[in-house]
Amino acid sequence: MSGDSILNVVILAAGEGTRMKSDTPKVLFPICGRSMIDYVLDAALEAKPDKLVVVVGHRGEEISGHIKEKWASQCQGEPRIEFAWQKEQLGTGHAVLCALEHISDETGNVMILCGDTPLITGQMLQQFIDAHLGENADLSLITTEVDDPGSYGRVVRDSQGNVFKIVEASDISDGKKCRSEINAGIYLVRRELLAKLLPNLNTDNAKGEFYLTDIIEMAVADGFKVFPFMWDDSSTVHGVNNRHDLAYAEEQVRQRILERLCLCGVSIRDLGNTYVDYGVNVGKDSIIEPNTILSGDTEIGEGCIIGPSSCIINSCIGKNCNIQFSVVEDSEIGENVNIGPYSHIRPKCIIESHVTIGNFAEIKNCVIKSGAKVHHHSYLGDSFIGSDVNIGAGVVTVNYDGFKKHHTIIEEGAFIGCNANLIAPLRVGKDAFIAAGSTVNHDVPDESLAIARERQINKDGWVAKRKKQKE
Ligand code: UD1
Ligand code: CA
Repeated sequence: MSGDSILNVVILAAGEGTRMKSDTPKVLFPICGRSMIDYVLDAALEAKPDKLVVVVGHRGEEISGHIKEKWASQCQGEPRIEFAWQKEQLGTGHAVLCALEHISDETGNVMILCGDTPLITGQMLQQFIDAHLGENADLSLITTEVDDPGSYGRVVRDSQGNVFKIVEASDISDGKKCRSEINAGIYLVRRELLAKLLPNLNTDNAKGEFYLTDIIEMAVADGFKVFPFMWDDSSTVHGVNNRHDLAYAEEQVRQRILERLCLCGVSIRDLGNTYVDYGVNVGKDSIIEPNTILSGDTEIGEGCIIGPSSCIINSCIGKNCNIQFSVVEDSEIGENVNIGPYSHIRPKCIIESHVTIGNFAEIKNCVIKSGAKVHHHSYLGDSFIGSDVNIGAGVVTVNYDGFKKHHTIIEEGAFIGCNANLIAPLRVGKDAFIAAGSTVNHDVPDESLAIARERQINKDGWVAKRKKQKE
């Protein structure tokens, strides 16, 4: 915080989130692969608080557990993240009261944020702090104008334009859809004043809760300086109460992620149909084609073409790869690899450089060494495929006997003819050749031919005889 004033941040995250109609606690809902509360923590920590208190209650163990895991360094070091427990959810005012005992310093300011506003930014909070200090206000709040005030609290101003109270949506009889100034749920209050006002809140309202918003009217009545900080872009303070609000928030976060990628030299062909999780990295000069999803812990190298219609989950893709209409999960792909269209790389594959996986291949728990080709309609499971191996169309590693999975080893340079069934456990030696249509259940030595199929018989004149019989 600028100046010498101490900044404490309180994030409210104890509410039940009933409007989400879910078993997942609201602030842990994922937005582009990251929990809602993490975005709020990010923005809060950017404001460099001296202390940060998260108020938890409903499913509080899960929420505090999540934060302790994801923000471990901040839970031990500076600024310290602490948890305040609100055992009963008696309202936002009561939640802040629960946090107060964690803030021993009496001189500083307390910034209050809601855990369900994931679009707030550190930049906005910094401007808010600067304005609060510049105005020498006792209590500041962020307000914004929206076309439909919905469930937001309405900011009420007097004839001179001074804010004098906030009226909650549930306490007004006609909640008309008209452009209105609303309360963003973000406040900065002198610690001392907060401690004085909170105990005086009452539950005399439609919800029967201790509304934090009532401190505005109380502060004005006692002659304290209340400063409304008007923020132009209402989307930044968007609150998530239901899943429609969540969908909007996710769309906004997605566009921020895509913009960041574009500015780092990645081409996104269709901003409306590209889904990239928070934290996914894509190298420059890569192109993301439409309908593509990059999720989880994923990294894409430079110069790749991913998509159209591909889904890369928790995987690392090297430079110059081309992955079309395909799914890659929990795997590692080297450089210059072509996959698809329509292939499925299932978990635990390590595919080295210059490998081609063609159409309709399914690959699971395999190591595929460089230069191998798996062109069409094959299933490779629990296998080692040596370098420059050629897997013909329709090859199947028969890895499951109904009880156990078995391994197949195909040494470098081997040629597996079309429609071969390789019954595991099996080792096919270096440069070995397996004739098309073979069902192979014994190891094949290096440089040998394995042929395991019925011999072909040609019956001369057979068709003509048959025709005659018919007549
Ligand atoms: C609140 C504000 C409203 C504002 C809106 C902005 C009040 C009374 N109303 O309404 O003026 O426009 O936010 O988004 O403050 N929480 C607790 N303990 C509780 C109740 C809530 O920790 O007992 C937490 C929730 O987990 C949530 C936050 O406080 O993160 C806000 O609560 P919510 O019920 O979503 O309030 P709104 O109805 O959105
Ligand atoms: Ca809310």
